[in-house]
Amino acid sequence: MTHAFMDTLRVSVLLCLFVNIAEGNSQSFVYCSQDIASRYFAPSHTVVISHRSRTTTNRHDENRCQVPSLKPNVVKNSNLSCLQQDIWRALFESMHKPEKWTFLLLQSQTENSELQSTTIKHDSYMLLVTEAKLAVEDIKVQMVRLKKNPDWNPRAKYVVMFMQSGMTANETIIKDILSELWHSKVVNAVVLSRQTSQNEINVYTWFPYHPRGRCGDVRDVILLDSWILDEEGRERFLHSAPLFPEKIPRDMQGCPFMVSTFEYEPYVIKRKESRKVEYQDGLDLRLISVLGQAMNMTMSLRPPPPDGGRWGFLLDNGTWVGVTAEMMRGYSDLALVGWFYRCHIINEIECSFPYITDEARWYVPCAQPYPRWMSITRVFKASLWLGFLAAYVIIVFVMWQVVKISNSISTVPIENQAYTSLAKCILNFWAIILEESASNNTPHVAEIRAVFLVWVMYCWAVNTVYQTYLTSFLIDPGLQHQMSSEEEILNSGIAYGIPTTMVSILPELSDRRYRRKLRCDDVEVCQHRLAMEGDLALFFTKYNNEYMAALKYMDGDGKPLVCQFDGSYYRQYVVIPVPKGNPMLNAYNNVIHLVHQAGLIEKWWKDLKYTATLSAAKDFNVPVGEYIKLTLQHLQSAFYFLFLGYSVSIISFLSEIFCRRK
Ligand SMILES: *[C@@H]1O[C@H](CO)[C@@H](O)[C@H](O)[C@H]1NC(C)=O
Ligand SMILES: *[C@@H]1O[C@H](CO)[C@@H](O)[C@H](O)[C@H]1NC(C)=O
Repeated sequence: MTHAFMDTLRVSVLLCLFVNIAEGNSQSFVYCSQDIASRYFAPSHTVVISHRSRTTTNRHDENRCQVPSLKPNVVKNSNLSCLQQDIWRALFESMHKPEKWTFLLLQSQTENSELQSTTIKHDSYMLLVTEAKLAVEDIKVQMVRLKKNPDWNPRAKYVVMFMQSGMTANETIIKDILSELWHSKVVNAVVLSRQTSQNEINVYTWFPYHPRGRCGDVRDVILLDSWILDEEGRERFLHSAPLFPEKIPRDMQGCPFMVSTFEYEPYVIKRKESRKVEYQDGLDLRLISVLGQAMNMTMSLRPPPPDGGRWGFLLDNGTWVGVTAEMMRGYSDLALVGWFYRCHIINEIECSFPYITDEARWYVPCAQPYPRWMSITRVFKASLWLGFLAAYVIIVFVMWQVVKISNSISTVPIENQAYTSLAKCILNFWAIILEESASNNTPHVAEIRAVFLVWVMYCWAVNTVYQTYLTSFLIDPGLQHQMSSEEEILNSGIAYGIPTTMVSILPELSDRRYRRKLRCDDVEVCQHRLAMEGDLALFFTKYNNEYMAALKYMDGDGKPLVCQFDGSYYRQYVVIPVPKGNPMLNAYNNVIHLVHQAGLIEKWWKDLKYTATLSAAKDFNVPVGEYIKLTLQHLQSAFYFLFLGYSVSIISFLSEIFCRRK
């Protein structure tokens, strides 16, 4: 293997195809490529030089050069003739001289493992081809090799070169080569072809959307410029035409583009009454129509992915499913369905600018109000109730003792017997608690009256506070505890769902910490359970959940049935994914930019939510208002206590009757 021959020779992205260089103009070939490089290859970027070396079974092949004269020995194992090696060496020397680029030389046999991503994309490519009749095959093999490199850049400039003399590359071969490159989405490619008759090199390329009506099929190649020897003996381009012009027009003339999508509110909303897949509205549908108008493209929506993978996730066996897979396989040109940024994990896909920032967060059932029958006792904490009881017991005891002592020292026996026994004290003071008049003849003794007054004052204060609180609790019993952190969800024992697609974007969700998670592949079922049964927490995205809440899960007062707590788990950029190298990406980015600046996305979102709430509002039946009438339900607890009292009195009444009989 010859992989170590030139460490990293960096070149910018340009694909020159030099066709058929004969002995006479090998110099022209070198000058021409030098000229192209200096004009188009970005300085200090990487120039990739690719070549397919075939290992010949006969190592002493007649055609092979026996005296490799190149240092470093680039072509040791390749099947180049001595002449070709000379050209090669001259080319390298001339490219190296300006010391402007880093070179990376790839042979189609080089092991892939040694290539690590440098995060800087290659800027130009030079593909070397030896024979015209094997050219297309060679390019195919080289492209497979190049695409494995993580820094592969289909938007680079590509130049292809023919090393063999003799056979002329005709336009059909050039067209096939450009076609092969277009399979890999390479548009910025030129082919240099030497005219056999004159000492001249022609530069060919093609335009995917020109003339009108062409929609990306390579039908004819165009002669861009020629490298000639002028009258003064200088070699130069005849027209100095730009070799890498902009090839994507602003007006696509109605060319069809396939869009992968499926129903996903609020991005893509299906028409309800229709039985086949037909979409009605949505953030992404509006964006599609703006894209289509801005670029005059015909957008055809694909049916939902048949594998049911929706946005797509990685199967255990290493295949992707869903719209992600559709794009990786080239079935569609773009996807618009609230697709979260995944370009850091999929090398075959590129992402546009984000047009929405969505959030992934926890949604929990809303806290239930306290049952109203609890309002009477909930007013005070248990300790306060105990304190109150203790005060009662103490004051009863004190009164009893005071009356006793007062009787024993008093010379006049009092006629009033109201507080003379413990039981009488208990009952009288109980009456005061309940704001009933105590026995109306409190003894005319100052000490007894003082104790009595103390208790009355105390009860007055406590009662006022109690009644105030009781009134507010009766009207609004307040909410029970609301779950307010992830810790709590995981520890509380409530079921929680994390859809599989979320796990594919946030791999940390497959941690042991979340081992009890439900898969929730049908998110709607989980949302319904969350809102209606309230026994599930759901980890999902803001836009969808808020829209569904606005559309379906509102209570009679127009309050959502799904709650959330502060703090989103993760921000998610919603992007348009395209297959890597898709030449439209820049145009899409421009449209997104304008849509963003115009604030259209925000407006669309508000419109959609408003419409959803309106359509849900027809089912509301409780008039909303600040003032409410007290109903039986509000006074539930009072009635419970009333019935409790009735039962107690009936029991005591019956027992009285029984006791008398005995
Ligand atoms: C859009 O493309 C059609 C051809 O399909 C063309 O007739 C029309 O003029 C174009 N519209 C604009 C605004 O350029
Ligand atoms: C992976 O599994 C899916 C279905 O389980 C299958 O369709 C696909 O062909 C498999 N891929 C590979 C590479 O085995």
